[in-house]
Amino acid sequence: PAAGATRVLRTVSEWRSLQSDGLLPPRASLGLVPTMGAVHAGHLSLVAHAARDNDLVAATIFVNPTQFGAAEELGAYPRPWEDDLELLTAAGVDYVFAPSVNEMYPPARHGTTLAPYVELRDADTLCAEGARRPGHFRGVATVVAKLLNIVQPRSAYFGQKDGMQAIAVRRLIEDLNYDVRLRICDTVREADGLAMSSRNVRLLPLERAEAPAVYAALCAMREAHAAGERRAEALAGHARDALRAAPLLRLEYISLASTLDGRELDLLPDEREELPSLASIAVFAGETRLLDNVLLE
Ligand code: PAF
Repeated sequence: PAAGATRVLRTVSEWRSLQSDGLLPPRASLGLVPTMGAVHAGHLSLVAHAARDNDLVAATIFVNPTQFGAAEELGAYPRPWEDDLELLTAAGVDYVFAPSVNEMYPPARHGTTLAPYVELRDADTLCAEGARRPGHFRGVATVVAKLLNIVQPRSAYFGQKDGMQAIAVRRLIEDLNYDVRLRICDTVREADGLAMSSRNVRLLPLERAEAPAVYAALCAMREAHAAGERRAEALAGHARDALRAAPLLRLEYISLASTLDGRELDLLPDEREELPSLASIAVFAGETRLLDNVLLE
C-alpha cells in the first residue's frame, strides 16, 4: 500500500471511534501484533502471519515502562518512530496504535489504591526469566490485557523468541477467558543463527561476531536431547561447552523448563504425548542482553 495508508491512533477514545465511525467494519477479522517498536524482520513476519489470517492488521507500538526492572534501561530502549511507521506501512499494517505512557497509565490513577494489575502466580520464582526480572511478567501480562481490551482483535501474534512470554500470554488468554486466538510464530534469525531482536543494533562488532554462539549452544542442547539425553544438567553442559567458543558472552542462565508453566525441570519428560520443553539461554554481550530459546519436541 502507498505510504500514508496506515492510520495512526494515539488514544483509547480514537481507537474506539474507529469502530463507532465505521472505519473498522464490525465483521472484519482483526489481527493484532503488539510491539515495543524498533521494528525488525521478526515483527514483520508476525505482521505477515496476521495479514494471511485476517482482513485487517493492527500493530501496537508502546514501550511499556511497567515491564522494565529498575536496573534495565527504559530510557535507552530504541524508539525509531519514523522507521517503524515506514516498515509497518510497507508491510501492509492498517492501524498502528501508539499511545503515550500517560494514556496507558494515567498518573492520577496508576499505582494508586485499587489500581488493578494482572499477576501470574509464581512467575517471579518458578521460571529463570522471571527470577532475573522480578515484576517483568506482571508488567507484560497487565499491558497485554489492556491492549487486548482496547483493540479487541480476533487473533494476536507473538514471537517464540520470548519463550516464557509466550507461555505467560497463553495462560493470560486462556485463564482470563479472552476471546482471542493466540498465534506464536517461529523466531526469525539472521543467516548465522542470531535471533532477530531490537537489542541487536547495540552489539559492538566483536560482540556481534560471537552472538550466534547462543543459538549454536541451543542447537547443541537440541541435538543431545534428540540423542536421548533428558537430564537438564547434562543438557546444560552441552550448551556451556558450545559457549566456550564465545568468551565475550557472559552467561546469565541456561534454562530447561516446562512449556506448561515455565517451571524449571531437572528431568525432561520422555513420553511422546508430553508437551515440548523450552530450552533457553540468556547472556550479556557487554551491556546488551541476548535471550533465545528452542523447543525440545
Ligand atoms: O514482546 C514485546 O515486545 C512486549 O513484551 C509486548 C508483548 C509488546 C508487551 O509490551
